[in-house]
Amino acid sequence: MTNDVQQAITLLQNAKHICILTGAGISAESGIPTFRDKQTGLWENFRAEDLASIDAFERDPKMVWSWYQWRRNLVKDKQPNPAHHALASLQQWGKTQGKTLSLITQNVDDLHEQAGSQVTHLHGHLWKNKCSQCDAAYQGEIDYSQDALVNCPECEAYIRPDIVWFGEMLPSGAWQYAEQASADCDVFISIGTSSLVYPAAGLSQLAKSQGAKLIEINLHPTHNPLIDVVLASKAGEVLPTLSAALL
Ligand code: APR
Repeated sequence: MTNDVQQAITLLQNAKHICILTGAGISAESGIPTFRDKQTGLWENFRAEDLASIDAFERDPKMVWSWYQWRRNLVKDKQPNPAHHALASLQQWGKTQGKTLSLITQNVDDLHEQAGSQVTHLHGHLWKNKCSQCDAAYQGEIDYSQDALVNCPECEAYIRPDIVWFGEMLPSGAWQYAEQASADCDVFISIGTSSLVYPAAGLSQLAKSQGAKLIEINLHPTHNPLIDVVLASKAGEVLPTLSAALL
């Protein structure tokens, strides 16, 4: 076991409140491309950042909806990987040890839930939809095999994925929970995120300003000087190691 892994284990053993923020990298080993990976196939000439916005949807709703239908098809059969399972085990372990382990994700997939974790989603849900005009949740069936636009039964406007797009506010309840958990924690762990997108990227700074130790798990670390322990490995390898040592 490396020194860094041992340091992380000691920090987690001694912590009472642990806050964990995950990003697209945790689902990479399940076969879901990360957000900033180059896109493939039909969409290889587009940047995800240019499609995930209200401007793009207003300009060309069919194109944005088709991209999400494509992503849904890409994600629908994917399974949680050892990183998701290890976090679910750690959350259970926390309960038996009188620790709180708050899990917050920027991901819109549901692999944390599938693994059995309780998780707060900051950027919405790939499988939920709402009206682009009146904001009403859309409960009807969506046929993922085709990309025809769907109209809101209340106001006729187009239905869109219930996902936070660039320039939009985060859901207030989820954001308040994330801020509180970050401010209260002794150890904050960032996993598989490039930490480029705010406000989520600011949570580790908030935790640090309140005295928490920061751990980063990333295949290509961010070189943030605030981080105390960097584990430059695949999440699906290092998290099972941490969980095996702690449980
Ligand atoms: N294990 C750990 N880290 C990994 C792995 C892996 N197996 N594979 C990739 N990574 C890391 C990459 O090095 C990168 O730093 O995961 C990170 C993924 O970064 P992004 O694609 O930028 O994803 P994320 O940080 O989640 O993006 C944040 O941006 O566009 C928005 O709303 C979107 O939620 C998304 C947000």
